Order: sequence, then structure tokens, then C-alpha cells
Amino acid sequence: MPTVLITGANRGLGLEFATQYAGEGWRVIASCRTPEKAAHLDRLAVQNAQVGVVQMDVADHGSVDACAAQFSDQSIDVLINNAGIASDDFAHQMLGGFDFENWENILRTNTLGPMKVTEAFLPNIKAGDQKKVVVVSSTVGSLTQMNAYPVYPYATSKAALNKGMLLMAEQLRSDGVSVLCLCPGHAKTDMGMKAEGASVEVEDAVAGMRSEIANLSLASTGSFTRYNGETISW
Ligand SMILES: NC(=O)c1ccc[n+]([C@@H]2O[C@H](COP(=O)([O-])OP(=O)(O)OC[C@H]3O[C@@H](n4cnc5c(N)ncnc54)[C@H](OP(=O)(O)O)[C@@H]3O)[C@@H](O)[C@H]2O)c1
Repeated sequence: MPTVLITGANRGLGLEFATQYAGEGWRVIASCRTPEKAAHLDRLAVQNAQVGVVQMDVADHGSVDACAAQFSDQSIDVLINNAGIASDDFAHQMLGGFDFENWENILRTNTLGPMKVTEAFLPNIKAGDQKKVVVVSSTVGSLTQMNAYPVYPYATSKAALNKGMLLMAEQLRSDGVSVLCLCPGHAKTDMGMKAEGASVEVEDAVAGMRSEIANLSLASTGSFTRYNGETISW
């Protein structure tokens, strides 16, 4: 059975990824920053012997390195960089009220986090059969589509993430590693419900993204797609 590593697997889209992959018999490395508080994930692990819960704070490079060290001799087929944050307070993400400390935290988590995790686990990915690196990005990071809310920190964090993944796609092509940027749609998670209009069920968002991941190949590496298969303009 293939192996998937998921970041931020304790709730929201990450927990649903873990649940759906476990349901299909995959080995799931479900990482989260506070395992002792991950009750839903613990339940999933109790019910599915192939689910393992590990600590990894993607914003803490020591934590990422410590996690990677536990798996140094193991292959991983699919890495899903899912963990992410948005500010609780929209006012602090808008011109005139910027909270730059908060902005730095968002960049550290949403942009540098996936870069660090991918770099740390690259040997595992290269050793895998599928060799896929995925990020849960957002249409909000598109350079061409304007957003209903101009949330500068979150939007720039995803735009920079997309560019980083495009660079990786080109660099890793010769190693047979495929890279994909996804948008889950406006999904009904804790984060999604902070803004009006969340309309996509979590199960549907994740089922759609899993389908995109299953279809990913070197022929489509470096693409940016929505959970329903639509191509998103960069
Ligand atoms: N929901 C949407 O409409 C939507 C739309 C576009 C993109 N996205 C993206 O989808 C991804 C998942 O979001 P969601 O909607 O599922 O949000 P969520 O329900 O708020 O869950 C976010 C997850 O990320 C984890 N996380 C945050 N910072 C972390 C860190 N430093 N290290 C490890 N884990 C961390 C959280 O863990 P804790 O419980 O420890 O906080 C939680 O598990 C994010 O990257 C988000 O930007 C979501």
C-alpha cells in the first residue's frame, strides 16, 4: 500500500485527507503540532492500524527536522503540505491596519513551512513509487484574480508558495518528482467559516483534491487546479 504524509492532519481538510486515505487502506503518517490534543486523529489511529500520528510544527524547523529523522530510511509516495493559517482578524490583514508580526507568522507557516517540510522529506519522496509533492494553496494566491477581501498576508503567502512550488516542479522533474498546487474551494472548515460564503463540503473538497492527486504525473507537474478539476490562472 502507498504511504501519504499529511501536515496539519488533526482537523479540517487535513483530518479529512487522513480519513479518506486510511479508508482506502493507505499507510497514513498524520502529522500535527499538538498530538496530545488531537482527539479526532487519535480515534482514527485507534480504528486504523496503518495510521500513525506524529508531532510536526511546520513553522518550527527543529520540529520538522526531528520528524524527518524518524522516517529517514522510509519511502513516502505522496506528501501533502496542508497545514496553514489565516489571521483571525481580517482588519489586521488589510491596508491601514497591517499587523506585520502576524504577517510574518503567516508567511513562516504558509510559505516557508511547506518549503522546509518538502526539503526535509525529499529523500523519502524520491525513494517512493509515486513521487508526488502537493500543497494546499488557494485561488486567493492567484496573481490575476482579484479577491473579495484583500487579505494581504494570506494572499501573499499563497502566491509566494505557488512560485516556490513552480520552481521545485522544474528542478525536480529530472528526479521524476511531480508537484501540484491545489485549491480546495471555499470549504466549510474552521478557517473557511471565518469568511462568508463557505459552500464546499469538506468531504467533497478532499475527494476532489485526491482525484487531482491521483491524476498527477510528470506530464502535469507544476499545475494549479481547483478541487473540481478547473485550472486556476497563476
Ligand atoms: N477552508 C478553505 O476554504 C480553504 C480555502 C483555500 C485554502 N485553504 C487551505 O487549506 C489548508 C487547510 O486549511 P483548513 O481549511 O483545513 O483550515 P483549519 O480547519 O483551520 O485547519 C488548519 C490546520 O493547519 C494546522 N496548522 C496550522 N499551523 C500549523 C503549524 N505551524 N504546524 C502544523 N500544523 C499547523 C492546524 O493545526 P492546529 O489545530 O494545531 O491549529 C490545523 O490542523 C490551509 O493551508 C488553508 O490555507 C483552505
